[in-house]
Amino acid sequence: MDQIVSLSRRRGFVFPSSEIYGGLGSTYDYGHYGVLLKNNIRQRWFEAMVLERDDIVALDSAVILHPRVWEASGHVEGFTDPLVDCRTCKLRFRADKLEDSQCGRKPSKHPGEFSECDLTEPRQFNLMFQTTVGPVEDSGSRAYLRPETAQGIFINFKNVLQLARRRPPFGIAQIGRSFRNEITPGNFLFRVREFEQMEMEFFVPPPDSDRWYRYWIDERLGWYLRYGLRRSRLRVREHGPEERSHYSRGTSDIEYEYPIGWSELEGVANRGDFDLTRHTEYSTTKLEYVGPDGERYVPHVIEPAVSLERIIVAMLVDAYDEEVVGERERTVLRLHPEIAPVTAAILPLIAKDEGMVSKARTLYEELRKRQSVEYDDNGAIGRRYRRQDEIGTPWAFTIDEQTLSDDTVTVRDRDSLAQERLPIGGVRAWLEDALERDWKTPKGD
Ligand code: GAP
Repeated sequence: MDQIVSLSRRRGFVFPSSEIYGGLGSTYDYGHYGVLLKNNIRQRWFEAMVLERDDIVALDSAVILHPRVWEASGHVEGFTDPLVDCRTCKLRFRADKLEDSQCGRKPSKHPGEFSECDLTEPRQFNLMFQTTVGPVEDSGSRAYLRPETAQGIFINFKNVLQLARRRPPFGIAQIGRSFRNEITPGNFLFRVREFEQMEMEFFVPPPDSDRWYRYWIDERLGWYLRYGLRRSRLRVREHGPEERSHYSRGTSDIEYEYPIGWSELEGVANRGDFDLTRHTEYSTTKLEYVGPDGERYVPHVIEPAVSLERIIVAMLVDAYDEEVVGERERTVLRLHPEIAPVTAAILPLIAKDEGMVSKARTLYEELRKRQSVEYDDNGAIGRRYRRQDEIGTPWAFTIDEQTLSDDTVTVRDRDSLAQERLPIGGVRAWLEDALERDWKTPKGD
């Protein structure tokens, strides 16, 4: 994890937030490559979940919803973790995760293991961030920053049913920020207090819910394989009844083997009719499906839910490689070409050669209309290749002496390091073709 954190910082993917003020624990800002990486992951999810399907529509609901939403959903009452305080060191820990936490004293031990540790009894701590709406701060103006995007979908069920003219099975997908006042955030982006969720609620006839639950587990696992994660680093773990959330009739985690061990990447839950029934009760608006022949029922809901942050960590960890090439070490991110922040680099071999620069700029201007490409003429060519390897750029096109006489360029492959020559006029088609090809990580299964 340290290598990933240091690479992310060095190359401007992710930096600790509010650093000039001493930082705000476990909060991060994204730099240029981080933004491009996030955009790509978000777009690949949206394609698979909405654009490539006829049965799912998109939604973008507000972050601050009516406070009754969170009473109906069970979050006001039950979205809590058990918290213990240490009276000696004044730190706070999750009572159910003491073995994963570190006491503030040295040498590092778990809370409760020093004789001076003085832990309080556990008490329930609600993870929702509270705020007030309007100028008067009283209990009537209390609202919450959403801890999940899902509820914004449930409360719009009727709108979508009517306006998008859908009938079950159909889904509503949403991407947006969620906020949780985690007691023990950490492990880089894995557990943060502000994250971007990608959730889809799939409404089905009740007798079909188990079939769709299994379908979505397979579908989501397939998405991770499609975008290059190794099969051996992924597994599906079904929750036991004691582990499930209050709304769940069945939950499976798609887990990834992070440097901290096997941990939840994405959850797929069968939420039954819990949410629509509760919102019907609390809002008095009937949330049900009425068919053309008058049959009516409350659909059951299957929900795949993940954060961009957990995907980013899994993809960076999976892609990270160090190797020695010709007695020199290189660090390389073997990201899927459709995930990599930059698809291709355009490099004039000699930055001062006007002919090379002119041809390189023309190629760059042509490619940038469709792809995320980068022009780089800064430093020795070897150093430029290394820089692109570190940000995961799959291909680099080099304009050299020979280009000036025969209008060909070399293309260098990030993974195999193979180089081939092709006509400069064919680069755009070559790149589009390369992006269409199936890609498999050279790191194996
Ligand atoms: N709507 C259901 C729901 O929110 P969850 O298991 O609490 O379920 C879903 O969260 C996903 O959101 C998780 O699988 C994980 O990918 C992500 N997630 C949850 N808490 C997170 C946090 N503090 N930091 C980063 N990602 C988080």
